[in-house]
Amino acid sequence: MDKLKITGGRPLEGEVQVSGAKNAALPIMCAALLSAKPLALTNVPRLRDISTMARLLAQMGVAVERSEQGAVLHAKAITDPTATYELVKTMRASVLVLGPLLARCGEAKVSLPGGCAIGARPVDQHVKGLQAMGATISIEHGYMQASARRLRGARIVMDLVTVTGTENLMMAAALAEGETLLENAAREPEVLDLARCLGAMGAKIEGAGSDVIRIQGVRALGGAEHRVMPDRIETGTYLAAAAAAGGKIRLTGAAPKTLDATLDKLREAGSKITVTESSIEIETARRPAAVSVRTAPYPGFATDMQAQFMALACVADGTALITETIFENRFMHAIELQRLGADIRLEGNTAVVRGVERLQGAGVMATDLRASAGLVIAALVAEGDTVVDRIYHLDRGYEGLEKKLGLLGARVARIA
Ligand code: EPU
Repeated sequence: MDKLKITGGRPLEGEVQVSGAKNAALPIMCAALLSAKPLALTNVPRLRDISTMARLLAQMGVAVERSEQGAVLHAKAITDPTATYELVKTMRASVLVLGPLLARCGEAKVSLPGGCAIGARPVDQHVKGLQAMGATISIEHGYMQASARRLRGARIVMDLVTVTGTENLMMAAALAEGETLLENAAREPEVLDLARCLGAMGAKIEGAGSDVIRIQGVRALGGAEHRVMPDRIETGTYLAAAAAAGGKIRLTGAAPKTLDATLDKLREAGSKITVTESSIEIETARRPAAVSVRTAPYPGFATDMQAQFMALACVADGTALITETIFENRFMHAIELQRLGADIRLEGNTAVVRGVERLQGAGVMATDLRASAGLVIAALVAEGDTVVDRIYHLDRGYEGLEKKLGLLGARVARIA
């Protein structure tokens, strides 16, 4: 069952609950490697990437117990500090084990991730930061072979803003000797959520959520309980879908404060947005106006929302410029959107999207997680049936997608 059949043309109406954030849960699961005591998590989404991370940690000797919306991870002893190519190639976030393993065990062997559908995605900043903390890292047979007696605190100025790079170094620094200063750090809310979890485990971290993070290393970390933050990209995806398809939906269990850039753009498109502390309602009465976006690190407009806004622009009134500045190859969905009748011209890292009155259903192919989300949104507004192939990409990051869309009145079915 690896295709999704969507019959478009209906406005969305109803209420759905947002899941825990994939990109917060993944680094937080890796934080369990830093302590011999159990880490109990709630609001853990049921996603393919989370199962992959659980499998990776289990291979290292971590006891992983999953419940409906939770997980208890217990790294009493790490038996094998290795992340094999087989798992790393299926999920790049596996590289997040590097910092914690090195800090806890003094050694790690982690496969180089290689390129992926959205760009080259090197890990040089992760490596450079760990080297500054005293690690020796060599590349052998496609693996990063890392060792260190005990990591030492250091002042690290990152060349560019990297989310998992910041997370990897923050975790390593939590157990290093002395103080680490991470400058030009990523300000993404997921970095802050990880810092909160590490803080509950006993780490001494200040400034997470800003671009300078100060970490005072401690000898050991303890156990903790932590609730994973709501998924802001899942939230934004349903909001963009509702703006494109029209109607009125409400999302509960959300964190509106993490979605400022997205909400601003949706208002600009003409939707009415009402927020409380943990819910967002969006009402769209007419065809959206064209809005241009330019991706940037947080608090700018998220690259993980770019494909969804391109889909919105396809049916908007006017011309929108969609500029991608984070990844060099994140426009694969443009070609597929054209198959649905979209008018898109690519000029370097900008897509010029001229809105059309209507799209038409067709067969399309998903290329990566967020590209697939863009295709689903386009399918919801297209006339007739769209079949999205290779939806395993969606299962990596959207919990119960067809169930949630069904709750909103969309006609969606998983087919073989
Ligand atoms: N980069 C380097 N060197 C490095 C690290 C990054 O050149 O050592 C470059 C990348 O190639 C890219 C830019 O820096 O051009 C930013 O990449 P970043 O490291 O921030 O991305 P990431 O940490 O690998 C996370 C999310 C992505 C999200 C990006 C950007 C997780 C697990 N993944 O990736 O999420 O797109 O940040 O916000 O947190 C997704 O969920 O679909 C997804 C791809």
